[in-house]
Amino acid sequence: MDDIYPVSAAAAAGTRCDAATYAAMHGQALADPDTFWRGQVDRLQWVRKPRVMGNWRWDPVNIRWFEDGVLNVSVNCLDRWAAADPERLAIIWEADDPAVPNRRLSYGELLGETCRMANALADMGVRRGDRVTITMPMIPEAAVAMLACARLGAVHSVVFGGFSPEAIAGRIADADSRFVVTADAGMRGGKVVPLKAHVDAALAIEPRVAAVLVVRHSGAEVAMVPGRDRWWHEVRGGVAKVSPPEPMGAEDPLFILYTSGSTGKPKGVLHTQAGYLLWANLTFETVFDYRAGELFWCTADVGWVTGHSYIVYGPLSAGATVLMFEGVPTWPEVDRFWAVVAKHKVNIFYTAPTALRSLMREGEAPVERHDLSSLRLLGTVGEPINPEAWRWYHRVVGKGRLPIVDTWWQTETGGAMMTPLPGAHPAKPGAAGFPFFGVAPALVDADGRFIEGNDVSGNLVLTASWPGQARTVYGDHQRFVETYFTAYHGLYFTGDGARRDADGQWWITGRVDDVINVSGHRLGTAEVESALVGHAAVAEAAVVGFPHDIKGQGIYAYVTLKAGVEGSDALVADLRAEVRRSIGPIASPDHIHLTPALPKTRSGKIMRRILRKIAENEHGSLGDVSTLADPAVVEALVAGRLNR
Ligand code: WTA
Repeated sequence: MDDIYPVSAAAAAGTRCDAATYAAMHGQALADPDTFWRGQVDRLQWVRKPRVMGNWRWDPVNIRWFEDGVLNVSVNCLDRWAAADPERLAIIWEADDPAVPNRRLSYGELLGETCRMANALADMGVRRGDRVTITMPMIPEAAVAMLACARLGAVHSVVFGGFSPEAIAGRIADADSRFVVTADAGMRGGKVVPLKAHVDAALAIEPRVAAVLVVRHSGAEVAMVPGRDRWWHEVRGGVAKVSPPEPMGAEDPLFILYTSGSTGKPKGVLHTQAGYLLWANLTFETVFDYRAGELFWCTADVGWVTGHSYIVYGPLSAGATVLMFEGVPTWPEVDRFWAVVAKHKVNIFYTAPTALRSLMREGEAPVERHDLSSLRLLGTVGEPINPEAWRWYHRVVGKGRLPIVDTWWQTETGGAMMTPLPGAHPAKPGAAGFPFFGVAPALVDADGRFIEGNDVSGNLVLTASWPGQARTVYGDHQRFVETYFTAYHGLYFTGDGARRDADGQWWITGRVDDVINVSGHRLGTAEVESALVGHAAVAEAAVVGFPHDIKGQGIYAYVTLKAGVEGSDALVADLRAEVRRSIGPIASPDHIHLTPALPKTRSGKIMRRILRKIAENEHGSLGDVSTLADPAVVEALVAGRLNR
């Protein structure tokens, strides 16, 4: 029997969506999407209200929503709240170092800053449609930069601050981006992240960038290139604090966000203006059951989609107040998250299972030290949550009374897709609940046949489009089609496996492709392999994930060396450094297993299934090995396995 947590009276009181409302909305959104979405478009402020709702097909792939609508995203996130109530708080900022004073930006101030930055970007030459790369610490100017692009109709590409210069350069080149917004440096856990130096190194590789705007934050000494680089604080005073919002077509691009897949380099997932914003707005209000005046804290970084949708676009388009936190959960002490919740009286807290697992390890005392009575709702995202961590979250952080929304979604979906709704659905630890309005999940087997009924597992597909769906891969529509719509013709393939249980609740079982999820960060095994073979000593590399207590998945790399190269600890350290240089510290392998050979079929295909089993320390159940060219290779790998 699953453990079930029914909807509490407190969660049901005043909810936007009880069980009956969910049934009606969900039913209508699937049966009559036109009427359903017509009823939602007034969530946004339009220059021209759309008359066409969804207009999409997946063969050939052409996805459009609200296509005749015209709006400006920054107006929706700022002007309408600033006009009604300029003093309303938009962002409360908490620095990495608890001794640094907080910043509080009202909607009026955030609008002024955004307009100023839009004018500064325009002075640098940024025009509608241009791609602007943003690599920033978690400071309000990160949101300002994104919204300033939206105001001008420029397309932002936010690159997570933990990526290496080489990774930044690759994204700049792919997006053909000639503008960068960054900061001198970020602070994380008391350590300096030299962002400007990373940008400088990236631009040495990729010189097409014409202008760089640098926000002074840490005060770190940085080199400024005359004619290319300018300080935000120097230009800020000289530009107007009003900026006319560019009227944008609903299907004009809003942003590109690079994400990893099974093959090749990260792809630039492209989201457009209206459908994305409406999805972020509707899911934000409904999933978190947001109530006016509440303080919402999403602990993600703006470099990931969770930060885009639930720090910036969802909450601000709803006129909410968000907490933005620069630091990490465990610094200066392991109780930092709880200290911040208590200090600011956070009402809704949204984090990743990997953070909870690392905090759980510290026991209950760090949580108990703080008054968490302001909390009303908890959420998780990014990877499956193990039931043990869910129960700890519920009992210790939620005092056994707070609902938890476990939200399943992806960069490509724009916002939450499956979750228990707090006022409508009983929750089961580890389950992602039910599909959101308009979401049509299904399970298919390896041959693409639908798996009907309940208490079944398979590959997770979606059978209908929703407004938040990514429209293409930037510059490579064919890759978009191949990645998502080719495995199962006419269906969107998520890359995840799932189970629909006896009650119709959905459980995400993890990726079924060559993507691994390390501390909630998505990485392609192919990317790590390509970094490893970039090292002069390496002949071949095969990378797989394995279960990791804290990170969810760890990275296990099997490497063969070129003839004549001797393996050593120094070489292993060098290989690890190569991965950090090429991608960033998040991709650093936990284990690098040097081996004279990889297990291959007689036709030369690497048998990853076997490598996964060995990495998982499950070598007792290797399955069929009869197609192996040389069974002795496997015996040697098992004997030398590094994860025991
Ligand atoms: C995984 C993050 C289980 C999943 C928003 C998905 C989850 C990938 C959950 C997307 C969840 C995300 N339960 N698995 N609640 N949320 N995932 O693009 O494998 O960084 O395909 O988007 O994370 O990761 P991405």
